Amino acid sequence: MAQVPPRQLQRAERGKVTRLVTNASYTTPPVELIRLKRDGHALTESQISQLITQYQEHRLLDSQMAAFAMATCVQGMTSDETYYLTKAMLNSGTRLAWPPGPAVVDKHSTGGVGDKASLLIAPLLASFGVRVPMISGRGLGITGGTLDKLESIPQFNTSLSLNELQEIVNSTGCVIAGATEQIAPADRKLYGLRDVTGTVASIPLITSSILSKKLAESPDALIFDVKCGTGTSMQTFEEAQELAEMLVQTCVRFNVKAKAIITDMNQPLGTAIGNAAEVREALLSFAGSGPADLVHLATTFVFELLTLAGKTLTYQDVADNLTNGHAQNHFEDMVAKQGGNLCQLTSPNWTPLIAAEDGYLARVNTGALGALLVRMGGGRQLPEDTLNTQVSLAVPKKVGDSITRGEVIGAVSHPAPEAYLEQLREALQISAAPVDPRPLIIGTVIQNDQ
Ligand code: URA
Repeated sequence: MAQVPPRQLQRAERGKVTRLVTNASYTTPPVELIRLKRDGHALTESQISQLITQYQEHRLLDSQMAAFAMATCVQGMTSDETYYLTKAMLNSGTRLAWPPGPAVVDKHSTGGVGDKASLLIAPLLASFGVRVPMISGRGLGITGGTLDKLESIPQFNTSLSLNELQEIVNSTGCVIAGATEQIAPADRKLYGLRDVTGTVASIPLITSSILSKKLAESPDALIFDVKCGTGTSMQTFEEAQELAEMLVQTCVRFNVKAKAIITDMNQPLGTAIGNAAEVREALLSFAGSGPADLVHLATTFVFELLTLAGKTLTYQDVADNLTNGHAQNHFEDMVAKQGGNLCQLTSPNWTPLIAAEDGYLARVNTGALGALLVRMGGGRQLPEDTLNTQVSLAVPKKVGDSITRGEVIGAVSHPAPEAYLEQLREALQISAAPVDPRPLIIGTVIQNDQ
């Protein structure tokens, strides 16, 4: 695996600019640490730990932490600093302790439009006997959140105590819940601040934020779905690769086996976008009628993660468990243990979008679809927004598919669909000439010893 320092620090790491500050004591004034980061210096473990501890204990102002986050966004961090930051945030809370038993594994996605793969992956993993304590997040902006999708199931409870979470894993094999107050509380505080200060888009901050929660699960192995394209935060392959490498490298330093797969997010995953509709698509996948891209992605991630965790099995073994009832049983059991009532899951009320011309689907403005769902009330602009779970979009075609005039090329579920149908049409670019399909899996980052 290539060691790629953050771009902003590559010059500094060659020793021309950066001086590693080694003699700072715990009492270094925070403003001095902020200045050091602003000027492109690499901080030590004790300096980073000091900042996080003081922030958690309300001895560092939000304004100071925001300045530090902005300095980090602009200057980047070395892989050592990213590791120290992850460690400090992880140590701000508790970690799950597991009795001896099957491997503890999890998957994380950086988030994309229509990405409901976790709904398939957690129970599919559990069907092979491993333990899956999946701590997940809510959607904000154009990408949906797994917790929001599950909460479209009436009475589904994502706010579990650590004891409840572990009990469900021990009895069912998997759970999908939100981070409790005890899991990486420093990240909870810092993430809220980053969200309103334009400091989300930073590879070290994203890495430490994701890993402080995932490592708190005390996993043996983790796999990352790093999305790349217009429907996610990492728009270029280079950015996605840099994040994937930093996630894997940092896990290795915590002795956790890790792998990252970079997947295309220039079109939605599956066909449905919107919370209840996405749960329905997951149920269809258990019944053998899921969209090919979603099914392939879920099967690939489960196969790769189980192999990483030391199991001997084939891709076909995993594909079989997705549709032979085993994964579905774990899903239904998990939903029941978390209080959800699948019988009351709402159904979308689709109004179709009809093709006005023959051709080929050339491009999907995936970011625009995510933004459209938010405007329709199916996504969140502010953390406190409530969601309309019935609001959804559907895009049944994939880039490269042929289109015949009069055919259904999309659908909207909304009480007043007309205006949204036209916006959906604008997001789908049709060309007269044939177009190549897009590959779903576009890169893999593994540890050196795999
Ligand atoms: N998800 C997280 O948990 N944190 C980030 O910073 C970005 C995505």
